[in-house]
Amino acid sequence: MSTTADQAALPASGANASPETFLGPPDVTPDELGALERAFVLARLGPAHGPNPRVGCVLLGPDGRVLGEGWHRGAGTPHAEVAALVDARERDEDVRGATAVVTLEPCNHTGRTGPCSEALLAAQVRRVVVSVDDPNPQASGGAERLRASGVDVVSEVLAEQGERVLGPWLTAVRRARPFVTLKLAASLDGRVAAADGTSRWITSEVARQHAHELRSEVDAIVVGTATALVDDPSLTARNVAGELHHHQPLRVVVGLREVPAGARLRGPGGELVEVRTHDPVAVLAVLHAREVRHVLVEGGPTLAAAFLRAGVVDEVHAYVAPVLLGAGRSAVGDLGVGTIADALRLVPQEVIPLGPDVLVVATPLAQPVTSLTSKPTSRPTSTPVHADEER
Ligand SMILES: NC(=O)c1ccc[n+]([C@@H]2O[C@H](COP(=O)([O-])OP(=O)(O)OC[C@H]3O[C@@H](n4cnc5c(N)ncnc54)[C@H](OP(=O)(O)O)[C@@H]3O)[C@@H](O)[C@H]2O)c1
Repeated sequence: MSTTADQAALPASGANASPETFLGPPDVTPDELGALERAFVLARLGPAHGPNPRVGCVLLGPDGRVLGEGWHRGAGTPHAEVAALVDARERDEDVRGATAVVTLEPCNHTGRTGPCSEALLAAQVRRVVVSVDDPNPQASGGAERLRASGVDVVSEVLAEQGERVLGPWLTAVRRARPFVTLKLAASLDGRVAAADGTSRWITSEVARQHAHELRSEVDAIVVGTATALVDDPSLTARNVAGELHHHQPLRVVVGLREVPAGARLRGPGGELVEVRTHDPVAVLAVLHAREVRHVLVEGGPTLAAAFLRAGVVDEVHAYVAPVLLGAGRSAVGDLGVGTIADALRLVPQEVIPLGPDVLVVATPLAQPVTSLTSKPTSRPTSTPVHADEER
């Protein structure tokens, strides 16, 4: 389960601090804190997409030694705690009396797999250190179950860090709807198409490749029917070489018109879902019922405005190119803002240069920073992507 490379990534803080110099939370030991930081690293090895959270677990012996490690590799596979118990067994370690250090409260329900609280009890784990409590009403209660059986449970350790690792999943479960990222690709004067409706390409290849990486992390891409009909996009996630990523998000088209036979959206890629409504909340309800946690809204301006007006945008990714169009559609349609005092103000979180363009990541004022998508990084591309297959 664990590899040499994984071990090399073991964070030094906490684990290496002597009890005298340790400045962590009072109810955890330096070994436990180091193990939790390691568990965050493990959690991020799991997929960003899918219905389940990214979770990591480290089992510590009474002497502070690592007995086993695990992380969740996606829906239907063992949860992190069970993976760590299996790892310990493979290492011939005795886990009785061990401490399980986990990034998310152990689940207490039988879903695709059994309850982790029971697995830990069966393994006779003595103590559990948790970063974030599970907000999912169906799965929560693991800490309570463990405490009721005499296990010492410490919760909310490095919770802010834990929330960042859980990212959009946490917001989706708390709000009972998918986390929504609105993507815009605009000229310097805020336009997403020229006067004749053409929009390929406003931003550079570097920016477009960056956007493809985000596509490979979300569960669904959403566009309005006009974008589907005018642009005939494929809405697939592709790598630098133009090959399809292993994971392909659902392709969702919102509006009353039908996607024509022969459209690229009916070609290779994720499942095509046509939602015949104009109501963004209804769209999100349909996707939530399908366990979609993270949605990328890619326009056009009419749909972008509808999501913003409905107050269901959690973050905006605006790719801005040093191009002037002077005429053509604005990135966002009418928001009902009649005067500057009513402007929809966003809080910038990051500004990332991407070749000649910049990406501004911003959140509406009411959104907590901890619900942000995993930190975007600049991923310059050297291999050209075939322009016609870009969207
Ligand atoms: N640069 C970029 O990032 C980017 C991205 C996407 C699109 N674009 C450009 O944007 C242009 C298309 O913009 P658009 O705003 O017309 O397209 P859109 O937002 O993709 O689609 C609008 C259509 O969706 C349906 N719809 C869904 N929800 C709606 C709602 N709440 N209110 C009203 N209609 C709703 C309506 O069609 P029905 O009659 O079928 O219901 C409406 O005509 C194209 O030129 C495209 O190239 C640019």
